[in-house]
Amino acid sequence: MKIFIDTANVREIQEAVALGIIDGVTTNPSLIAKEKRPCGEVLKEICAMVAGPVSAEVIGLDAESMVKEAQELSIIAENIVIKIPLIKEGIRAVRMLSQKNIRTNVTLCFSVSQALLAAKAGATFISPFIGRLDDISQTGMDLVRDIKTIYGNYSFKTEIIVASVRNPLHVVNAALLGADIATVPFAVIEQLLTHPLTDSGVQRFLDDYKKIPK
Ligand code: E4P
Repeated sequence: MKIFIDTANVREIQEAVALGIIDGVTTNPSLIAKEKRPCGEVLKEICAMVAGPVSAEVIGLDAESMVKEAQELSIIAENIVIKIPLIKEGIRAVRMLSQKNIRTNVTLCFSVSQALLAAKAGATFISPFIGRLDDISQTGMDLVRDIKTIYGNYSFKTEIIVASVRNPLHVVNAALLGADIATVPFAVIEQLLTHPLTDSGVQRFLDDYKKIPK
C-alpha cells in the first residue's frame, strides 16, 4: 500500500520523507490555511520535496471554473494532481480533465454510488473520507470495502485513497482491505511507528550492554 502524507506543513513533509516511506502528499484548503502562506508558494515547495503525486484542491463550484483552476494549478509542477469535490459539476470537470490527461483526485466521497460515478468519469484517484463517516456512526471502512469490490468487478483503474484517517487502525484496516493508498496525518505516521515494548526492549538491551565486561 502506498502511503501519502495528509498535510501542507513542509516541516512535517520533510521529516516524513526522510523516513523513506512517503509516496505522495494530499492537501486541502483547510490544511493550506493553517500554514498562513500563499497557496501557490506552499504547493511549489511541497512539489519539490516529493517525486509522487501532490493533490491540490480547486475551490470553483462549476465545471468550467474547476477546469480553469486545474490548468493553472498544473503549471506549478508536473506532480500536481487536481482535487475535485464529488458534486455534479465536479464529475463533469473530471471527465473534461481526464480528456486533457490531467490527473484528478475526487474528494469528499461518502458513498459507493458517488465512487462509481467518479470512476466512470475517469478519476485517477477516489478519496473516501473514513474518519468523517465514523464520526457520524457509519463504519467508514465498509465504504472502502464496497468501492474495492465494485472497482474490481469492472476493472476500473481509479485508485482508492483512504482519507480522513484518524488513527493507526484506519491505516491497518485500509491495508487489510487492499486499498491502493492511505493518506495519513503526520501524528498518525508517528503512532504507526511506535510500540511501548519496542521502546522498553531497546532500553533493556542498552542497560544490559553496559554490564558486558570490557
Ligand atoms: C484527504 O485528502 C483530506 O485532505 C483529509 O484526509 C481530510 O481529513 P479530515 O476529515 O481529518 O479533515
